[in-house]
Amino acid sequence: MSEKNYYITTPIYYPSGKPHMGHAYSSIIADVLARFKKLEGFNVYFLTGTDEHGLKIQREAEKNNKDTQLFCDEISKKFKDLTKILNLSNNDFIRTTEKRHFKSVEALWNKLVASGDIYLDKYNGWYSVSDEAYYDEDEIEQIDGIKKSKTSGSTVEWVEEESYFFKLSNWSEKLLNFYKANPNFILPKSRKNEVISFVEKGLKDLSVSRTSFSWGIPVPKNEKHVIYVWLDALTNYLSAIDYPDTSSKIYKSFWPADLHVIGKDILRFHAIYWPAFLMAANIPLPKRVFGHGWILSDEKKMSKSIGNILDPIEIIKDYGIDQLRYYLIKEVSLGNDGNVSLENLTNCINNDLANNYGNLCQRVFSFIKKNCSNKIPKCDVFSSEDKKLTEKLKKDIPDLKKLVNNQDLNYYIKKVIEYSFDSNKYFNDTEPWSLKKKDLKKMNAVIFSAVEQIKNISILLLPIIPNSANKILDIINVDNEFRQIVNITSGSLNHDKELGNIEILFKKVE
Ligand code: ME8
Ligand code: MG
Repeated sequence: MSEKNYYITTPIYYPSGKPHMGHAYSSIIADVLARFKKLEGFNVYFLTGTDEHGLKIQREAEKNNKDTQLFCDEISKKFKDLTKILNLSNNDFIRTTEKRHFKSVEALWNKLVASGDIYLDKYNGWYSVSDEAYYDEDEIEQIDGIKKSKTSGSTVEWVEEESYFFKLSNWSEKLLNFYKANPNFILPKSRKNEVISFVEKGLKDLSVSRTSFSWGIPVPKNEKHVIYVWLDALTNYLSAIDYPDTSSKIYKSFWPADLHVIGKDILRFHAIYWPAFLMAANIPLPKRVFGHGWILSDEKKMSKSIGNILDPIEIIKDYGIDQLRYYLIKEVSLGNDGNVSLENLTNCINNDLANNYGNLCQRVFSFIKKNCSNKIPKCDVFSSEDKKLTEKLKKDIPDLKKLVNNQDLNYYIKKVIEYSFDSNKYFNDTEPWSLKKKDLKKMNAVIFSAVEQIKNISILLLPIIPNSANKILDIINVDNEFRQIVNITSGSLNHDKELGNIEILFKKVE
């Protein structure tokens, strides 16, 4: 199997309400990583979608007086539309109400039954419909007479019903060994420690079916039960690539997944339950789960139940999609919670995009139009300043790749925008406008170097601000096939064609 395949996923979101900034955030992170792998020359499979079963969705549909499937169709469409608005490069959009997904979940269920990991018993305990999660007595607290989950704050209700169980308790030891053997399975590191101490306390068997409602995938051969929505949902990562048809090309190319991007709220499901199900079914485990922090608004987790939602679509209308993507990746620390505000967004757009990168392109391209017949000048002698500018970025490429492959996007983008700061400074210091009469060769070397640097910075920015970076590469006539990381060190510039039209790339926000 080629190592040049890469499979990356977002969580599949509940279509219980319209998408908000938190959902946009996860999807943008995954898209940046997916696009970067493409830039590195990988075949990328990027999956997102909606998680449509369970009591939470059933109740929400009832509250809205809608047929449950119709309710899902309507809101799932909003999530699908958002993939376009966010400019995601996803290959597929899976819905758990699709036939292909039923087939996959049933197959996995049957495997778990065959391996002896599922048995029938009775469940008594606390359940949060909002989280679709079971909680132990020591995980809940009473606030104003209402029992709530300590971690999520959601209300829990008492459940007592016949249920199938998954023998999770059998897998504690094997999970701990797996984490040890694969130290980068859970990132960031702080998250990993959380998971390990939870597993070390010993795992209890997990209820994996419900009988008190019907909105889900029926348990094969016992249709009184529907399969627990998390066992159903996690399987989306397999059903989208044809499981159980393990001989299909797409399955063979892309399983095991390289990276599940998720929020830290759903770490337990991805880092404990999911690998346990897969081990029990004898299916290879994904290589990594990255649990990012929460987007906060007014210092609180942005969520529908708290009601402090920022609407990504409104913000994109006012500020632009590349601007939002850039801001979220640069200013929100990926592993930690981060507050977002329109004030910070404005500052970030003005400082980094308008005054720095945008300004650099603008002034260099205008200079070429005015002084070089609108073509990138040729040149073969470079000063040490010229070389210093362009060589540093090239030398940094292995480090930059490493940063992204460790999901350290904040540092990556900081480094990339620094090249742009340096280029602006170089342009000021070398004063090409004063060289025109004095030393034309030298002026050409400066302009050549500045454009080469703009080209390389733009390639590095492609995953983050694809529309704008592509526009700039269009202006300087870089062919599509050369928009790849390898061409940063080996690519050449087009000196024969005139530059494309220069427009304002990033409007300053007042
Ligand atoms: O949990 N900050 O779906 P969900 C950052 N269907 N990210 C946030 C966020 C915030 N304030 N709010 C949500 C589910 N997210 C399940 C997942 S996967 C097999 C099933 C993001 O609609 C973050 O990625 O509640 C979080 O994990 C996810 O949305 C939860 O979305
Ligand atoms: Mg949630």
